[in-house]
Amino acid sequence: MTQATVAPIRGQARTDERSQPSVADRRNKQSLLFALPKGRLAQDSLSFLERAGLSIPTDTESRKLILPAADGSIGFVMAKPRDVPTYVEHGAADLGICGLDVVRETDRAVYEPLLLPFGHCRLSVAGPVEGAAAPRAESPDAADLAVKPASSAQLDGTPLRYMSQPRIATEYPRLTRQFFAERGVNAEIIALGGSVELGPILGLADLIVDVVQTGTTLRMNGLIEIRTILESQAVLIVNRASYQLKAAEINRIIERMRLLTT
Ligand code: PRP
Repeated sequence: MTQATVAPIRGQARTDERSQPSVADRRNKQSLLFALPKGRLAQDSLSFLERAGLSIPTDTESRKLILPAADGSIGFVMAKPRDVPTYVEHGAADLGICGLDVVRETDRAVYEPLLLPFGHCRLSVAGPVEGAAAPRAESPDAADLAVKPASSAQLDGTPLRYMSQPRIATEYPRLTRQFFAERGVNAEIIALGGSVELGPILGLADLIVDVVQTGTTLRMNGLIEIRTILESQAVLIVNRASYQLKAAEINRIIERMRLLTT
């Protein structure tokens, strides 16, 4: 079997690296691999795939990293949600399911052929109920963030002002920076790996940008939703090369899934 050659991207490849196939080349010789998110989307993803008629792994709690479908037709990887677009972009997995919020934040070059009917949530700006009524400073030109929310019902469509230089704790630094920059607000972004609600409680941040699903976490921590940045739900993502090279198999899966979304 002839191995594909890959041109070095930078500098001179060592002799022993010259004939190494790329991740996508290796993967294209194998059966389909599907990257699924661990955590809150895991069970919905597996149930959805099963309803779409795909064979799924029998034991998803296994410590084994690549899980074969019960009928051996497809392989599955249970990955950290943030890593799913990375695997798919590089061709380490052919397909993946993750939240649209994660796809937009990670900004990976993948196809998004189908929004899926679960995992609905929103990425929102939130702040302390008390603190929000007492901004540190205000910019008369900045036009859009609630600084005095009395109740969430009063927030929609209200002309609001931004405090200047708010500190924002978030797991979504890219989308947060973009949201505030588009509104002319010089926000200081404090990137955290989780539990960002602690930011305002501990005085680390004025506001947070985080996923809101039921709103329980915000309520339990004395925070109130101020603005929605992005409406999110689960999305199917596909590696661009796989989409061409394994078109028949992948389109068959997409069509089965599409039947459940219409
Ligand atoms: C997410 C998010 C919030 C919570 C919102 O956290 O970060 O903390 O869910 O859900 P709710 O509106 O239904 O209360 P997750 O449990 O995914 O873990 P994380 O904090 O590690 O991101």
